[in-house]
Amino acid sequence: MADAEIGLIGLGVMGSNLALNIAEKGNRIAVFNRTASKTHEFHQDAGSLRDRIVPCDTIKALAAAIRPPRPVIIMVQAGAAVDEQIAHLRGVLSANDIMIDAGNANFRDTMRRFGELEGSGLTFIGMGVSGGEEGARHGPSIMVGGAEASWKRVEKVLTAIAAKYEGEPCAAWLGPDGAGHFVKTIHNGIEYADMQMIAEIYGILRDGLGMAPKEIGQVFARWNEGRLDSYLIEITARVLEADDPETGKPMVDMILDRAGQKGTGKWSVIEAQQLGVPATTIEAAVAARVLSSLKDERVAAQAVYGGGVAPFPGGRDEVLADLELALFAGKVAAYAQGFAVMAEASRAFGWNLPLPTIAKIWRAGCIIRSQFLGTLAKAFSGGPVANLLMTPAFVRMMQEANPALRRIVARSAEAGLPVPALSSALGYFDSYRLGRGTSNLIQAQRDFFGAHGFERIDSSGAHHGPWGSGAA
Ligand code: 6PG
Repeated sequence: MADAEIGLIGLGVMGSNLALNIAEKGNRIAVFNRTASKTHEFHQDAGSLRDRIVPCDTIKALAAAIRPPRPVIIMVQAGAAVDEQIAHLRGVLSANDIMIDAGNANFRDTMRRFGELEGSGLTFIGMGVSGGEEGARHGPSIMVGGAEASWKRVEKVLTAIAAKYEGEPCAAWLGPDGAGHFVKTIHNGIEYADMQMIAEIYGILRDGLGMAPKEIGQVFARWNEGRLDSYLIEITARVLEADDPETGKPMVDMILDRAGQKGTGKWSVIEAQQLGVPATTIEAAVAARVLSSLKDERVAAQAVYGGGVAPFPGGRDEVLADLELALFAGKVAAYAQGFAVMAEASRAFGWNLPLPTIAKIWRAGCIIRSQFLGTLAKAFSGGPVANLLMTPAFVRMMQEANPALRRIVARSAEAGLPVPALSSALGYFDSYRLGRGTSNLIQAQRDFFGAHGFERIDSSGAHHGPWGSGAA
């Protein structure tokens, strides 16, 4: 009987949690997994939700179980596996049915898939889902890209399962085709920047101030009560307070300093570059992960150059106050960059991305959820602005916070502590607020070796310099 509200393919960690969340909100859901035994195990283990779950052994049975027009969530590994499932679904779905890719897809793949489905009568949604396992089960942040009519078909289910911020669901239709997956990519770029800056501050507390993990955890826990209140600061405090059950030592001290990545951070940097939007803090965060993976080279380099760190100057209370503000200022720069990338992408792809809505649906459910995003949503709701740094609320906050960022970056440099993301945030801010920069010299150099021409400050049109012999 075709009475399921929605279908789902892929009962991995994210897929099964999403399916349970959907069922818990009162919906019947048809589920399919490549390995049939997994489908039945999932059904058996669903407890009181079992009656709302329709286990299907074939994709055909899955399609037959859903009320038309049939929405089917595909929650498999991004890439070829998604194309494979689309190919299978094309054989069993019919006009107006909706395939929903809920994985961390590259938005360019999503755009391609929209193109490939054109004229088939089938529709597609590229859906960014953030919040990890816990979010999928109890309320993720959901970023939807596709036709508005497709959104209307699934809006009720998706808003029901999404996280709520003061009662408002953190799910929204953001624009056509690749809009949802693009926004999720930028979310992850910002996530990388937030995490890297937190790690840099941890480095200063550990190596510059000589603090123990638990002490550092308490600092983060305290900061979580103030302007830095966010999920990532909260989990940082908890991570730092945990002990390794095997050795009894602080867990964080037993973890190898080599960070992994699956590609979304890198994609956000590639797209920022393609769009010509500076996203230096996000770039620095992605590069820092790559550098972290060069463990053997770093160990060898320490033997050559010494890894010595000079004591961090300043009294502890004063430094702690500065670190909190510096992290906040760095965060402002990173979010300014991420939102500037989305604003430009919106223009370039004709998406009309609602920036205040994006900030709103990131206030809960997703990995970068924070009090800060509430402030940011308000700052953007006054109408289009060139950059977050130019909204009155953030002008005030950056005026207060940037001197601390400057002191922390300067003192870290002197002490020999790497702060690539924080210093790039400062460099971005300082370059952005400099009315007369230094590119006049670059223009002169370009004209010298390539006769590229330059604009003058006192007249319009292209000009050349009096470079003499050796010039182009
Ligand atoms: C989220 C996360 C998630 C991402 C992980 C791992 O929003 O829930 O962004 O989608 O997969 O954070 O990403 P990396 O392996 O690239 O760190």
